Amino acid sequence: MSTRHLVGVAAAVIVAAAIAVGSSSDSRPNSQHNCRIIPGDASWPPTSVWQQLNKTVDGKLIATIPIAAVCHTTLFDQSNSLFDQDACNALRDNWNFPETHLPSSSSPMAYPFSNNSCNPWLDPRTPCTLGSHVVYSVNATAVSHLQAAVAFAKQHNIRLVIRNTGHDYLGKSTGAHSLGVWTHHLKSIGLIAAYKGTGYTGAALRVGAGVEAIEAYTFANRHGLVVVGGNCPNVGLAGGFIQGGGHGPLSSRYGLAADQILEAEVITAAGDFITATLENEYSDLLWALRGGGAGTFALLVSVTVKAYPELRVSSASLTVLNDGTNADALYASIGSFIQTTLPSLVDAGGYGCLGRGALRLHDQPRLRAGSHLDHLLLPALQTFKDKGLQYQYASAESTTFLDRYNELQKTASWNVSDYNLGGRLVPRKVAVNDTANLMAAVRYISSRTLMSGVSYNLQKGVSSADGGAVNPKFREALFGISIGTAIDYQDWAATLAAQDQITNELLPQLEKVTPDGAAYLNEADYQATDFQHLFYGEAYPRLLAIKHKYDREGLFYAKTAVGSEEWAEGPDGRLCRNPEYRK
Ligand SMILES: Cc1cc2nc3c(=O)[nH]c(=O)nc-3n(C[C@H](O)[C@H](O)[C@H](O)COP(=O)(O)OP(=O)(O)OC[C@H]3O[C@@H](n4cnc5c(N)ncnc54)[C@H](O)[C@@H]3O)c2cc1C
Ligand SMILES: *[C@@H]1O[C@H](CO)[C@@H](O)[C@H](O)[C@H]1NC(C)=O
Ligand SMILES: *[C@@H]1O[C@H](CO)[C@@H](O)[C@H](O)[C@H]1NC(C)=O
Ligand SMILES: *[C@@H]1O[C@H](CO)[C@@H](O)[C@H](O)[C@H]1NC(C)=O
Ligand SMILES: *[C@@H]1O[C@H](CO)[C@@H](O)[C@H](O)[C@H]1NC(C)=O
Ligand SMILES: *[C@@H]1O[C@H](CO)[C@@H](O)[C@H](O)[C@H]1NC(C)=O
Repeated sequence: MSTRHLVGVAAAVIVAAAIAVGSSSDSRPNSQHNCRIIPGDASWPPTSVWQQLNKTVDGKLIATIPIAAVCHTTLFDQSNSLFDQDACNALRDNWNFPETHLPSSSSPMAYPFSNNSCNPWLDPRTPCTLGSHVVYSVNATAVSHLQAAVAFAKQHNIRLVIRNTGHDYLGKSTGAHSLGVWTHHLKSIGLIAAYKGTGYTGAALRVGAGVEAIEAYTFANRHGLVVVGGNCPNVGLAGGFIQGGGHGPLSSRYGLAADQILEAEVITAAGDFITATLENEYSDLLWALRGGGAGTFALLVSVTVKAYPELRVSSASLTVLNDGTNADALYASIGSFIQTTLPSLVDAGGYGCLGRGALRLHDQPRLRAGSHLDHLLLPALQTFKDKGLQYQYASAESTTFLDRYNELQKTASWNVSDYNLGGRLVPRKVAVNDTANLMAAVRYISSRTLMSGVSYNLQKGVSSADGGAVNPKFREALFGISIGTAIDYQDWAATLAAQDQITNELLPQLEKVTPDGAAYLNEADYQATDFQHLFYGEAYPRLLAIKHKYDREGLFYAKTAVGSEEWAEGPDGRLCRNPEYRK
């Protein structure tokens, strides 16, 4: 009761503060484009101007109404006719499914990045506000729509946000007071049976920016092919995933998703629709798009990626039972598994998901490999047996990648919104030669919260000419660890504190054993202060130069993206040039 009351009061204060900042800022000159404009500013376009944009984009402009508006009696300071308790209950029941957020032009799947502005679990009298949702978005289905959005944001000095599926864990696909470009409906996929280019001749797919992994897998399979996509079926293939690196079930064989890019169609910050290839004048931009992180170099329209013949795939699942008394034996066995079994598994082309439970030990770990899987896992089973641990083991094989993938999805659960995230890459050297210390860190973390790992060999499968801009440290990793701390929908302060726990207490455990280490920029802590070094490594200076070359004015901005340090969000969410970087 009292908590609800307090939250209500806090939200009312937010509204008042936003209005106050909005009006006072009108007197502050933004002429240098030092700050983006926000609603309430004198120069914020009136409705009639937004309507003109809407005409330019064939009626595809959407004014954001947060999806949880149905749970609130007040919306944007007015009484809300959308309030509907049944619809709200249905939304609550489905909140954690990605499918709830995918059809939305604005809802971030990682809840904290809405800034708690329209919370479906609070008392309905708590107002629903825009918070960090985009204000408008263009539901793009044509290149001209993308260009119109870019031109409009530039002309009016409005913050631009690119959203595809909204999966991003670091808040990169949403932003306060912004115009969104929503690429989700750019669904074209085309087969190029015989692509010919520098260093590659063979099958390729041209994949539109809105295509999801499962759509690309299914299309490829129809042509007897596979492509490198992610593990989750509806993470985009050609958005944040591929530009950030992108690991998936086939990565130990063919490399990261970014390594597969042969060319990319993009809209530049200048508004030009161009194709960047490995050979042409935009090859530097293509290099950056191949692993340098999304949302900052250009607006991707499509990528052309390598495709490979369909293949037999086997999978295995090993579940070790945690009876509450066998922790020492469990961690020792997992340590030995990481030290001896995982390296041979990934070297054989396997991809190992130490599922939610494998490290926390109460759920189904899933292990995937291309061949000889049972044989590879035998030593691990023996270790578990020797330690007196009970386990369940099952394996299966399919004649195609798609069949095995779909089979595994039946038992997978991809809930998206309940955890704050942090991540760290574990170099093979550490996993193999410093296992005891690594396991001490793992045990510290997993006895406090949720933890998972995904394992691969990114060294061997690499098929790219120059490797792209992927952080070189990614290649040395045996696995990436993700840490999740629970989001508390009733207690925003606790949610923020839970992220701080990742930043200040849990990740440092892993930092100790992985000195001068790295994190995968798509599965990391958005609060990382040295993200330039941590996410991009040696590639950062060249990436920043390319950012400046193609986007001098900083039109494209996303948290922790290359060049984002040159901007800062104010307490009201206004994006301004960081004074330290003003020219
Ligand atoms: C459930 C789940 C499972 C995941 N599994 C994997 C996995 O197996 N392997 C893996 O590597 N990662 C995985 N990830 C992380 C994933 O790669 C990132 O969340 C990634 O950012 C998603 O990209 P998106 O385009 O789908 O999402 P969005 O959130 O829409 O976009 C992410 C970023 O990309 C930018 N962006 C999107 N489209 C474009 C475009 N057309 N042009 C320019 N910039 C663009 C956005 O501005 C934003 O910065 C997973 C994440 C979740 C939530
Ligand atoms: C844009 O135009 C379409 C079609 O006329 C309309 O349905 C939609 O509401 C408009 N969007 C905005 C933000 O006004
Ligand atoms: C996943 O989300 C659904 C829908 O919100 C929920 O019913 C279910 O309990 C969640 N599962 C897990 C494992 O969190
Ligand atoms: C985000 O929330 C905080 C309070 O929790 C508030 O001060 C701030 O103005 C909000 N920002 C936006 C853009 O809504
Ligand atoms: C976006 O456009 C697609 C394709 O025209 C359409 O199916 C979808 O309903 C639109 N979404 C919204 C939220 O307007
Ligand atoms: C582990 O250490 C040994 C001895 O120093 C070394 O030869 C080996 O290469 C190391 N293993 C890895 C994976 O780095």
